[in-house]
Amino acid sequence: MKHDIKDARLKDTGILRIEWAHMAMPVLDSIRKRFEKERPLSGLVLGACLHVTTETANLAITLAGGGAKVFLCASNPLSTQDDVAAALVTEYEIPVFAVKGEDNNTYYDHINAVIDEKPTVTMDDGADLVSTLHTKRKDNLSHVIAGTEETTTGVIRLKSMAAQGVLQYPIVAVNDASTKHFFDNRYGTGQSTLDGVIRATNRLIAGSVFVVAGYGWCGKGLAMRARGMGANVIVTEVDPLMALEAVMDGFSVMTMEKAAKVGDFFVTVTGDIGVIRPEHFKVMKNGAVLANSGHFNVELDLESLEEMSKTKRTIREFVVEHVLADGKRIYVLGEGRLINLAAAEGHPSAVMDMSFANQALVLEYVSKNYKTMKKDVYPVPVEIDKEIARLKLASMGVTIDTLTPEQEKYLSGWEMGT
Ligand code: ADE
Repeated sequence: MKHDIKDARLKDTGILRIEWAHMAMPVLDSIRKRFEKERPLSGLVLGACLHVTTETANLAITLAGGGAKVFLCASNPLSTQDDVAAALVTEYEIPVFAVKGEDNNTYYDHINAVIDEKPTVTMDDGADLVSTLHTKRKDNLSHVIAGTEETTTGVIRLKSMAAQGVLQYPIVAVNDASTKHFFDNRYGTGQSTLDGVIRATNRLIAGSVFVVAGYGWCGKGLAMRARGMGANVIVTEVDPLMALEAVMDGFSVMTMEKAAKVGDFFVTVTGDIGVIRPEHFKVMKNGAVLANSGHFNVELDLESLEEMSKTKRTIREFVVEHVLADGKRIYVLGEGRLINLAAAEGHPSAVMDMSFANQALVLEYVSKNYKTMKKDVYPVPVEIDKEIARLKLASMGVTIDTLTPEQEKYLSGWEMGT
């Protein structure tokens, strides 16, 4: 079996950690049990480009149990958990091509290794696999019937491909399911980003000025959790509606130009490029800590920071100190890559349970329906979304009310008013 991982001897911790995650993923577990009986994915060859974590391992095991041949590579050079990769290869016989800290060339070699296996379906997180297939590996497009996409950034890229008429097969935007982005993006990113910042720095959040760039679902979660830990949270935004929402949620909203002067921590979650730039570095306080939790490492202009730096050293794992010409020190965490996966373990299993339940059920859905789907980006069918919410509530022991016949009639009519 072809694979490329750091060290197969890391498998024992990987196996235990996968089991630990499994215990917090009851919805995915119920799908796994059904898939093992029904084998609805038989015949599919899945090329998956996802963060190689304990939660992804549980998804891969579920899909393989459902009959798919799964080939996995990383969706970020720094997010791989090497013990998990070792466990997947040795214990579960799932080929993995991923090593934490791999350089950009190796990252793409690994994506190409998955494409070499001639996937018939793709599962992407950020659309690097899909874009490689549509550019350098077009010869491997004809056997792909459908795909799924996990994250906001990937969905934006795919929609741009569809709008330009370039997309060659249907892809379902798993990110856009309510049971995905309301929870994973908000509570997952909120908790795991702070976890990453804290593990990397061990600095006190309480009483600090914590700047969150971007008030999408991820930014909302992060701002909420930073406030919960006692930080004075500032939000920066470019969208007037989101900015207004942040104001009414009780946050200070200002430009990055102003925030740069007062922040202790800065975390970007915008999905855009060059959010923190030279003019901001110049006015920051000595000791400012910078991190990114958006999908790509483009939000902090690190090239410019590098040029502005007199010296640079790694002062502790995941923390690089830049000393500027005037002697000011600025700290960059995790090379500006997703800090929650670089320095911590990504979103907790309980939220990934819903995200990956969506992936599993959507894969089953596309394998049945791809013939009637166009080369476009599709939403997750609402029945799948609702079913996952129902299963999650049930797993938490929460029961909810049902409409009475009178209420149903009222909601479907228009005659009754004042
Ligand atoms: N994205 C964010 N957190 C993740 C996790 N724990 N596993 C896989 N993908 C993720």
